[in-house]
Amino acid sequence: MSGATSAGASGPTSGPTPGGASGAPALGAPLQRLEGREKVTGAARYAAEYFPPRCVHAWPVPATEAKGRISALHVDRALAEPGVLAVLTHDNAPRLAETEDRTLAVLQSPRVLHRGQHIALVVAETLEAAREGAAAVRAEYTVEPHDVELRADHPGLYVPDEDNGGFDGARSIGDFDTAWASAPVTVDAVYRIPALHNHPMEPHAATAVWDGGRLTVHDSNQGTTAVQRTLAELFGIEAEQVTVIAEHVGGGFGSKGTPRPHVVLAAMAAREVGRPVKLSLPRAQMAAVVGHRAATEQRVRLGARPDGRLTALAHEVVTYRSTLRAFVEQAATATLSMYAVPHARTVHRVVHLDVPSPSWMRAPGECSGMFALESAMDELAAACGVDPVALRVRNEPDTDPDTGRPFSSRHLVECLHEGARRFGWGGRDPRPGVRREGRLLVGTGVAASIYPVFVMPCRAQAVAEPSGRYRVRVNATDIGTGARTVLTQIAARALRVPPERVSVELGCSDLPPASVAGGSSGTASWGWAAELACRTLLRRFEEHEGPLPGDGLTVSVDTSEEVEATGKEHARHAFGAQFAEVTVDVDTGETAVRRLLGVFAAGRVINSRTAHSQFIGAMTMGLSMALMEGSTMDPAFGDHAERDLASYHIAACADVRDIQAHWLEEEDRHLNPMGAKGIGEIGIVGTAAAIANAVHHATGVRVRTLPIHPDKVL
Ligand code: MOS
Repeated sequence: MSGATSAGASGPTSGPTPGGASGAPALGAPLQRLEGREKVTGAARYAAEYFPPRCVHAWPVPATEAKGRISALHVDRALAEPGVLAVLTHDNAPRLAETEDRTLAVLQSPRVLHRGQHIALVVAETLEAAREGAAAVRAEYTVEPHDVELRADHPGLYVPDEDNGGFDGARSIGDFDTAWASAPVTVDAVYRIPALHNHPMEPHAATAVWDGGRLTVHDSNQGTTAVQRTLAELFGIEAEQVTVIAEHVGGGFGSKGTPRPHVVLAAMAAREVGRPVKLSLPRAQMAAVVGHRAATEQRVRLGARPDGRLTALAHEVVTYRSTLRAFVEQAATATLSMYAVPHARTVHRVVHLDVPSPSWMRAPGECSGMFALESAMDELAAACGVDPVALRVRNEPDTDPDTGRPFSSRHLVECLHEGARRFGWGGRDPRPGVRREGRLLVGTGVAASIYPVFVMPCRAQAVAEPSGRYRVRVNATDIGTGARTVLTQIAARALRVPPERVSVELGCSDLPPASVAGGSSGTASWGWAAELACRTLLRRFEEHEGPLPGDGLTVSVDTSEEVEATGKEHARHAFGAQFAEVTVDVDTGETAVRRLLGVFAAGRVINSRTAHSQFIGAMTMGLSMALMEGSTMDPAFGDHAERDLASYHIAACADVRDIQAHWLEEEDRHLNPMGAKGIGEIGIVGTAAAIANAVHHATGVRVRTLPIHPDKVL
């Protein structure tokens, strides 16, 4: 399948043939995951599967109150449990240096700022003893009243200067209020999304070992460079004294994008007991300490002429952050780049609540925001009597309305047309609630997708070995996406050799530092550095005379300058169009997605197999968000009620019946040497709106509050 036909007879000593037949597969070839066999045979090891000699286990104790102060912690019974070695609390835990992310200041204070915050850590010879010990810890609190409920009239709401990612809290074009007052057709609706939890299959886990002043940690995360630097900062040591390894990661979806408390706890405990410590967060504890997508309440107002041309648009988001961490779900930031509208504004209003800290969850911002905007566009289509695909095409902008810059490439209209063709949208009867098959009402819906193109500076090294092999070293992280495979393809192409001759080393902070596997930026950022290193190596190689030195030829690069010099003149986003067909059972109210079809314009696709998996995986997550997912804030306890996979429902295979992802061949020279845009997140953007719009078409019921449970359509 790989397209790599020949390992080639010539090693570096005889030199590759520049411009000649190289055996390197074209970009886009469906190379199979290089670690696929290791994974399916169980040979691939994850963070909790390393067993250093004398390793012990840790189990954290979560706070059972939402706000207050610990007045007493009783640990005697825990210490009396057979096998328990230590109980760390704010009284005896090592002091950590200050860090910007206060969720990492574990066991530093008796203050409790949300329910589920860790208040103690039990370390024991066995996992069972650690768990028993944790159950025996008793805390007394001086409880303070907590405030955990998001309300659009909360007196604490304010407009932040900045949202997640450095976006403005509020933006405007023209004069919305005047245009809105005189708009012939209007839509004014409020959409609600509950808190959502990432829940990767592999929990957050770490195995930490101190050796003198050196710390080595196997940790499940999306970027070990950041974890290394943060641990060094917290423990007051040099980054060179810390090695963080994430060879395989069982998903993250953003929740492993920044260092998390478990890794700090594991490192702390290992230093205290003088033995390696393994800590795997119990799933019931994850929901409170690894982040979630904050609930949002979004009011969208669309003003239009009778033909559907937009004259006014306002997208106003109400959401929360925790008191510990500044993270605001930037739900309206993509809105101004979507449609041609002369008068528009976006506003985020945020309140500090005594809740677990929200953070990144796949397409933070765009995923939430496009449910609201793309549902509202469907409502406008109905109000104007314009086909929903035609409505979007009619409002296509020439340049980015938000920045005034040209798009580096866009192709949203092409995605809509290609999707409509493949889906069989033509001739659709717009009337809701009229297609019936027995007990089932049937409907179809469409929505657009957008995700920005991010690229980060990165370092990499390429080595030509006398054996004829090449090594590329870059601290990328493969969180299950296929990064290892894609980087191998990029390197092989740049070196003009078959991929079998290239080994990519990633997932270890001793490698040249790289950015996080987040923001769909991995391939563009790491790939750029890998490509630059390999091209430079090839040039050096061609200049080289005589045999290679024993340790080969090595080239090191840093893309900071290239990245800095790119992308100032263009608005850069990936786009897509999603189509859904749903059935709604008139007796049970159950909505099922019969078909889901997406067409994306995401620049150059490097590996069609792994790209397809990324798209359909994200679309599945969007389906899950539309129909099932949601965390309920319990105002009495001050925490989310769902803390396991029995109560937090996600789509299973049986829920995903027919899902297709396609993409346009898109040439975009304004991005990076590969022309890649990033594909990890765009697939979830717009999916829920396409499904909700299809539910309206099926039933005539407009569901504006997710998830689409039976009670909402009956
Ligand atoms: Mo993605 S939510 O940026 O890991």
